[in-house]
Amino acid sequence: MHIVHVASEMAPIAKVGGLADAVTGLAKAQQKRNHVSVILPKYSLLSLDAKEIRLDMQFPCEKKRISYDVRVFHTEIEKIPVYLIETSPLLDHFYEQKIYLGTKRDSERFIYFCKTVAEYLIRKNQEIDVLHLHDWHSALMAPLVKEVYLSLKVLVKSVALSIHNLAYTGKFSLSDLEEIHYPLTHTECFSSKGFFFTYYSLMRGGLGLCDALVTVSPGYAKEILTKKYACGFVDLLEKRRDSISGILNGIDEELWDPEKDLLIPHRFPKNASLDEILLAKRNNKRALQKRLGLQEEGRPLIVCISRLADQKNPELMKNGLIFATKQFAQGILLGTSPLKKKQAHFEKLAKTYEHHPHLRFIPLFSNELSRWLYAAADFLFMPSKFEPCGLTQMIAMKYACVPIVHHIGGLKDTIFDPRYEKDSKKVNGFYFTKSSFSIAKETINYALDVWKKDRCKTLIENGMSASYSWDAPAKKYEAIYKQIVAKNRPLEK
Ligand code: GLC
Repeated sequence: MHIVHVASEMAPIAKVGGLADAVTGLAKAQQKRNHVSVILPKYSLLSLDAKEIRLDMQFPCEKKRISYDVRVFHTEIEKIPVYLIETSPLLDHFYEQKIYLGTKRDSERFIYFCKTVAEYLIRKNQEIDVLHLHDWHSALMAPLVKEVYLSLKVLVKSVALSIHNLAYTGKFSLSDLEEIHYPLTHTECFSSKGFFFTYYSLMRGGLGLCDALVTVSPGYAKEILTKKYACGFVDLLEKRRDSISGILNGIDEELWDPEKDLLIPHRFPKNASLDEILLAKRNNKRALQKRLGLQEEGRPLIVCISRLADQKNPELMKNGLIFATKQFAQGILLGTSPLKKKQAHFEKLAKTYEHHPHLRFIPLFSNELSRWLYAAADFLFMPSKFEPCGLTQMIAMKYACVPIVHHIGGLKDTIFDPRYEKDSKKVNGFYFTKSSFSIAKETINYALDVWKKDRCKTLIENGMSASYSWDAPAKKYEAIYKQIVAKNRPLEK
C-alpha cells in the first residue's frame, strides 16, 4: 500500500511528546511491507540536510497582497522518506525555534500547512491508498480531501486519523480559513457547540470526515465515547462509533534496550538471570545516588519521568514522591513544564530539596538522565489524569522498573496489578483507580511493602519479557486500512 503520514512531530528531529515517537515507530514498522512517507512542516529548528524539490507552486498571499513560491524539501529519517513543507516565506509560520507556540497563531500555522500539503499532493499526482493524519494539526486534511479538492479526492483512496490526544481540539477562527481560500460553505464540519457560543475546531473536521478513527489504545477508544473524556465531541463520536477503534502504540525496542544502552553505566540483557539484572540495577542506583548526592542506603527508588503538563498530574507526582520518601523510599522527578508558572514552581522545589538525602526534583529535559533513571529505579510513578496511551510505562518495564499508575486509558491496557489480576503471567505493576493523593498513596504503600518483602520479581520478569514492538500495531493498522480502502473503492461498471 502507499501510505502517507501527515503530522506535526516526528522523532528524533521534531519532538515534543509521544506523538513524535509514535509517528516514527509506526512508519518504520509499516515500511517493511508498504511504501511509506511522512510529511512535516519545515520548522526552522530542523538542522538537517534536505534537498529542495523544485515545484511550481505559486500561492496568493492575502495578508501581503502578493504571490509567493512554496518550497518542498526531501530528506530521510530512519530510512523513511520525509517531505518538509515550507508554507509561506512571507508569513514565517515555522520560523520560531519551537514546534508549538502555544498561542492562537498555531491554528493559522497548521491551517497553512495543511493547505500547502494538499496543493503539493495534487501537483505530485500520485495515488495514495491511505492518507494518515495525526491529531488536530493535520486533521484539516480530511475536509480538504473529502469536500474541497475534487482532484485530491480522486487521488486519495482513504483517510485515517490517529487520536493521540483529544484534549487538544485545535480551536480557530473562520478568518484563518478565509485566508487560505477555503470555501466557507463547507465549515459546518468544524462547528462545535460550547457552553455559551459556537466555536470552530480543526479536530472536529477530522473526527467527522475521516474513514477510520484510531485511538492509541483500546482503553482510550472506550473512554472518548463518554462525556467525561470526549472533550465536547460526545455526540459526534457516538455517531461515528462504528468507525472508531483502539490500537495500542508500540515502543522502539532497539532504542530502549538496557543491553545496548550506551548512556547507562551498568548494562543488562533481558535474558540474564534476575539476580544479575538486579545487581546491575543496584549498581546503576549507586552510581546515580553519587551523581545526585543522595544518601546511599538500601532504599527503593521511585521516579517520575514526564512532561509536567496538567494531563500528567504533576502535583500528584510531587505529593506522591514526598510521601514515599517519608516512608522509606527515595524519589526523583525529571521533567519540564510547558507553562512558565509550573516550571518556576518545580525550579523552586528543586532548590528546596537540593540537599535532601532522599529526594530530588530535576526540572530539565534529559534523554541521558531519563535512561539512567529507568535503569536504576525500582518503580515508575505515573498518576496521569488521563492517558491516551503512555510510552514511559512500557519503557520502564523493559528496564526492570515496575510501574505504579492510574488505571486509565493506555495504562489500563498495559499494567496488571496482582491484587486484581489472577493470571500470574500477566501481572507487571500496580494501579489505583482514582487520580487522587489519598487513593494513590495506599498503592504506593502497598508497592513499597511488596518491595520490602522481596516479592517484585514476577512483576519485573513479566514486564521485561512482554513484547511492545511496533510490528503487532502496524499489522492492526494495516487491517483497518484494507477495510477503508475497500469501502471507498468505486463500484465496477
Ligand atoms: C500523546 C498522549 C500519550 C500517547 C502519545 C503517543 O502524547 O498523551 O498518551 O502515548 O500521544 O500516541
